[in-house]
Amino acid sequence: MSELIDPALPKVELHLHLEGAASPAFIRGLAKEKGLDISGIFAEDGGYDYRDFWHFLEVYEAATSTLQSPEDFRRLVLAVLEDRAEDGVIYAETFVSPDFCGGGDLGAWREYLHAIEEAAEQAQNTMGITLKGVVTCIRHFGPEKARPIALCAAETKGDFITGFGIAGDEKMHHPKDFAWAFDCAREAGLRLTAHAGEWGGAQSVRDALDHLRPERIGHGVQAIDDLALVDRLAEDGIVLEVCPGSNVFLGVYPSFRDHPVDRLREREVKITLSTDDPPFFRTTLVQEYETLARTFGWTEADFRSINADALKAAFCDEATKRSLLDRLTR
Ligand code: HPA
Ligand code: ZN
Repeated sequence: MSELIDPALPKVELHLHLEGAASPAFIRGLAKEKGLDISGIFAEDGGYDYRDFWHFLEVYEAATSTLQSPEDFRRLVLAVLEDRAEDGVIYAETFVSPDFCGGGDLGAWREYLHAIEEAAEQAQNTMGITLKGVVTCIRHFGPEKARPIALCAAETKGDFITGFGIAGDEKMHHPKDFAWAFDCAREAGLRLTAHAGEWGGAQSVRDALDHLRPERIGHGVQAIDDLALVDRLAEDGIVLEVCPGSNVFLGVYPSFRDHPVDRLREREVKITLSTDDPPFFRTTLVQEYETLARTFGWTEADFRSINADALKAAFCDEATKRSLLDRLTR
């Protein structure tokens, strides 16, 4: 089948979990080097294997347990950015969790971050791809653990760490339990995003907006069940980081055809497109664009407009945006 969308189309990807972007081969390699047996997380074909979203989170954390040093993260960033560059991504933001980088200790986090930033700089020079980091607390680890993570974020806000967010199991705790962490990050000048409306219904999006006051929502797709909320998202310019393939693979929606991304767009909600944890969902950004083009008849012009919106919503400085806009519109 011939391609509908040029795979080299320049892209902006805002919703990508760093550890979740690690290929199974990369994680298997680390496990072997360290003598760790995590064979239970792989299927026969070598891909990640899990039953449902909650099992996915367990497998994710088992895979992440092989990442044990700043050097491991340096290698991870380079491997992940090589994959992104192959998809035509010119700017990406990645969720990074001090929980997985030294257990929330600020001194250890600084060392991991140094390695991550060095790798990002190397990728900028060799692959022409820009990466920024969004420090992310993990909802199912609880509000107490989120506080030191927010402090890590506030202390290391800078050219690379530009945002703060929350991921993990949306059914655990309430957004208001994380208001302290978000207030701390906001006061430090970090830009905010929150996972909501992936597994939680429309009310979970309302709760995240009311209590955490983010400018972007990770997923947010279940807002479609509450049209007053959809209007609020559109009017307030709240940007959704939509990951259709992730939602379909995990069973939030049975197929792309049933996915609300096209309806959200029709109702003038600003949406962006990302892969979330691409090897876990057996997807790439090129594949996402192609499937969306086939399912909804979206054209290159639609994707160009979505990428321009994503760049506007990016958590980077204006000079970076200006130079990237040139490349997006070329
Ligand atoms: N959803 C929520 N939390 C996550 C995910 C996800 O897809 N990936 C890693 N943490
Ligand atoms: Zn996510």
